[in-house]
Amino acid sequence: MKYSSAEQKSLVARSKAYLAKTDEVAKQTVVDQMSQLQELIVFHEWRYYIQNDPLLSDFEYDQLFKQLEALEAAHPELVRPDSPTQRVSSDVGNDFPSVDHLTPMLSLANSYNAEDLQEFDQQVKRMLNIDADQDIAYAVEPKFDGGSIALVYENDQLARGATRGNGQQGEEMTANARVIRSVPLSAEFSKHNIAKVELRGEVIIRKDRFEDINRKRQEAGLSLFANPRNTATGGLRMKDPKEVAERGLEAFLYTLGFAEDANGNNALENFDTHYESLYMLAKLGFKVPTDGTERKLCKNIAEVVDFCVNWEKGREAYPYEVDGMVVKVNDRRLQERAGHTSHHPRWAIAYKFAAKQATTTLLDVEYQVGKIGTITPVAKTEPVSLAGVTISSISLHNEDFINEKDLRIGDQVLIERAGDVIPYIVKAMDDLRDGSEQPIEWPKNCPINFTEEVIELIREEGEAAWRCPNCVCGAQDLQRIIFHVSKAAMDIDGMGRRYVELFYEYGWLRTMADVYRLPYDEIAQMEGFGSKSVENLRSSIEQAKLSPMWRVLVSLSVHHLGKRSAKLLAAEVDHMMELADWTEEDFLAIKDIGPTVAKNVMAWFGVQRNVQQLRLMEELGVNLSQTEDDKPKAAVTEGPFVGKTILFTGSLQQMSRKEAQEKAAAAGAKNISAVSGNLNILVVGEKAGSKLKKAQALGTVEILTEEEFLALIG
Ligand code: IVH
Repeated sequence: MKYSSAEQKSLVARSKAYLAKTDEVAKQTVVDQMSQLQELIVFHEWRYYIQNDPLLSDFEYDQLFKQLEALEAAHPELVRPDSPTQRVSSDVGNDFPSVDHLTPMLSLANSYNAEDLQEFDQQVKRMLNIDADQDIAYAVEPKFDGGSIALVYENDQLARGATRGNGQQGEEMTANARVIRSVPLSAEFSKHNIAKVELRGEVIIRKDRFEDINRKRQEAGLSLFANPRNTATGGLRMKDPKEVAERGLEAFLYTLGFAEDANGNNALENFDTHYESLYMLAKLGFKVPTDGTERKLCKNIAEVVDFCVNWEKGREAYPYEVDGMVVKVNDRRLQERAGHTSHHPRWAIAYKFAAKQATTTLLDVEYQVGKIGTITPVAKTEPVSLAGVTISSISLHNEDFINEKDLRIGDQVLIERAGDVIPYIVKAMDDLRDGSEQPIEWPKNCPINFTEEVIELIREEGEAAWRCPNCVCGAQDLQRIIFHVSKAAMDIDGMGRRYVELFYEYGWLRTMADVYRLPYDEIAQMEGFGSKSVENLRSSIEQAKLSPMWRVLVSLSVHHLGKRSAKLLAAEVDHMMELADWTEEDFLAIKDIGPTVAKNVMAWFGVQRNVQQLRLMEELGVNLSQTEDDKPKAAVTEGPFVGKTILFTGSLQQMSRKEAQEKAAAAGAKNISAVSGNLNILVVGEKAGSKLKKAQALGTVEILTEEEFLALIG
């Protein structure tokens, strides 16, 4: 722990004083204020990025940050290079010169099962002349799947960051290392008699963050990242540190490669064990695997095997990609005696989890069309089992992906499934080609096209996707109807993709408006439908007709018009048709509506067929007028919930979790997702568990039952 609990209490109290700008604070000198603010911000960043348990709201943190920025702007001569405001410096980019590592960055030998580990243990003992029945203690930690880095600190300041490169030399990327928020810009190594040190670690990205980034890239028509590892390593090698900062990289540190004291003596000898060096790193504020859960000190190889096997079982639930465990002799003197080959240390070994890669044959490419006409190529492969799932169909994303990988029909391809992530093609095994493989010809014309006409695909500048411009083709309509009824749009309960496809096949659905004139009598005759299920469907659809205008706007599949923009637009008009007459200026006059949304909404209303659709929907009873839900919300300014943070836990009896959160938000509260020092109110339903305990332990959280909450809401 970097901070004791007493220190943390004091830091929190001082933060509150700065936020409230008390007289005490105002009396301090500028130098004091700046150094205090820096200390406070570094502390809160540690709580956020290292402990994953912030004590301030984002807003409060931003306030502290702004105070420091303002003082620094007024006194530029007092800005310290390790100030949290100085992570991204505008003029320093990366050009990745080659640099020598202080000691070589070695690789690891691999093992795959319990026998391999036992063999490793025996080998270590033979090498060290230790009796076979004596125990050696091993430190076991995750083998993070990202890009390795070496961080040099000199006189307590981060002086250099470099990638692994060939192990001897890496590429210098200090500017990028500085923007990784879990990398401290300064750390008190001097307290441990260390003047210069090289730390090794892995830069990784959370799996959910990776998926978020790809979702956004997909929406923006950009090419997708293959997996979290590539997203992290690619991030490290970007030229512009500002972009790197946005990627949300994290760094776990796992070893000291080099350390010396002020007299140039080897300071690695200050540590008796690997564990001791990790304790020091944690104490200095670095992110290291957490003891007991992420890593373990095992007293012998049997414990190592158990820990590895158990870890593998839970790997999917872990937020980061991990491809195995690393087993290290804990005693540093034994490590030294064991030494290393030119490739790997003899005192450590990687235990690799079951492969999530396989090879198979690429048989064919088929194409799918999305709701805005994007053409997605899909590889059809010989079925192959990969991490328990049979795979025969893999997205190829877009034309560039196929070209970059030079994929050909008939190729043997290496495929991979990373975590919960969808399978993808890593590469074609071009050594195995026999000349019979056929290049994949990207279609010039829409390959799905339900009509007789030939329709040329178009690709807009800066986008990776080819689109079919033919918005009258049923293939796109089908995708649009599927989206129209989905949760994100009209949220028609019980009518998912399967029903839409079925009704489309029967000819009942051709456009979105048809959803509101389904032949219920005929549906009731179909196999698998009873009068009850048809009645349920009808009532969900009737319900959906009353949806707020913003939902209808979202449901139209206008490119880039998401929930947020739709709400902004719905707040401005009494009836949706008014938007048909809007000019670009009208759109741009709304804060947070940009030219892309303006252009796309205007283009949508410019198509006759679309406008007719809307009119028909309205005739069939779909609401296009502004509802209470669409109206701009006047901020709630009084009441028991204003300005408070709130969290619901356990199962609620009188409303869904979502309804409860909406009620709370409407009463001025802010919903948050974790119990921390930030939380004001916890509402407990039945079977509340660890969150309740944690809140009680904090002692600062007001705890309400569901009834009490409802009574207060009124
Ligand atoms: S120790 C001298 N520990 O795995 C010890 N490596 O094949 C060498 N890696 O490129 C490394 N997590 O970047 C070690 N907890 C961990 C690791 C780890 C990931 C990577 C490392 C290296 C590769 C070794």
